[in-house]
Amino acid sequence: MYSVSKHSLNDQKFTLIEVVHKDIKVTFMDYGATILSIYVPDKDGVMETIVMAYDKLESYIENDMYLNAIIGPTSGRIQDATFRIGSESYVLDKNFLGTENLHGGKECFAFRFFEYEIVDQTDQTTITFTIEKREEGSAYPGNQIVKIIYTIKEGELSIEFTGETDKDTLMNLTNHAYFNLSGNMKRDILNHRLYVDSKYHLELNDTLVPIKISENINTRFDFACLKKIKNNFYDGIYDLKTKGIDEPFLLHTENIDHVQVIFTDDISKRGLKVYTTYPCIVIYTHNYPDTLDLLNGVVNRRHLGVCFETQLEPNGINIKNIDDGILRKGNEYYFKTIYKFYVEE
Ligand code: BGC
Repeated sequence: MYSVSKHSLNDQKFTLIEVVHKDIKVTFMDYGATILSIYVPDKDGVMETIVMAYDKLESYIENDMYLNAIIGPTSGRIQDATFRIGSESYVLDKNFLGTENLHGGKECFAFRFFEYEIVDQTDQTTITFTIEKREEGSAYPGNQIVKIIYTIKEGELSIEFTGETDKDTLMNLTNHAYFNLSGNMKRDILNHRLYVDSKYHLELNDTLVPIKISENINTRFDFACLKKIKNNFYDGIYDLKTKGIDEPFLLHTENIDHVQVIFTDDISKRGLKVYTTYPCIVIYTHNYPDTLDLLNGVVNRRHLGVCFETQLEPNGINIKNIDDGILRKGNEYYFKTIYKFYVEE
């Protein structure tokens, strides 16, 4: 079941789509193909949203935090904002520290309107958000067509990331949802528990660009057992440039039935499991909050959410022994991520 509403802001029309199935209500917006809320029950059946949300719709227009939006043509940082495909060099805008490209810079899909199509069935609803990126006026090669397919059904939200191009190009699509299982951002995520099935992460340089593979074992990236996130937040973590965790975790299977991440909250008893065919998840513990009002007067602060950004290895094009992330003309880009929500016994 779904409903559609229109909202005018700054002479632009924003479309909101609310989808309801048993025990789940999700709201999307065509701008950025953004998730505005995901309501699921806690142990007492209380429905609250488990993603961070701004108080006002207009806060999503500039959306410095990329809150719950779709990121593309590329996610994460690209070193020196430059990449090569064959003999051609491409230079993107340097929107991070004046040297790196972050999340596609001014071309980021988070700041564009998508077309949408809804298919509603008894037990599930699918929304296909489509965007075209023209080569003309773009720093990325090729005319690209990207479709983000959200499917909502009982206890689950899945996202299919698809794309095509008429010239070899770079494509790395993700969703930037900030999860917080306490419900309506009541508590931060440091007391949530996390398990990640990953043995390696990509180490970042001084400008937070992934540069090489490192082991997780006995480091702050070691979530091989389900444990409170704060257990890996040692004294001195705030001396790091990241101020928390902001690294790509490498996965060792791309099997959609395999649980890659388990995230739980002891108090609400809500749980989240992440499945993906992508080879990597950037885990970002919301280390750099902005100052805009959040839903219900909640004050934005560090660690009020955590992103599980399933994607290709960011900056892979500039790192030896890592997939370059090039989408060849004629090939289909296709990855799927499933977020499953449950209540612990
Ligand atoms: C990046 C962070 C960045 C954040 C912006 C994340 O995906 O990894 O470094 O600060 O996005 O909201």
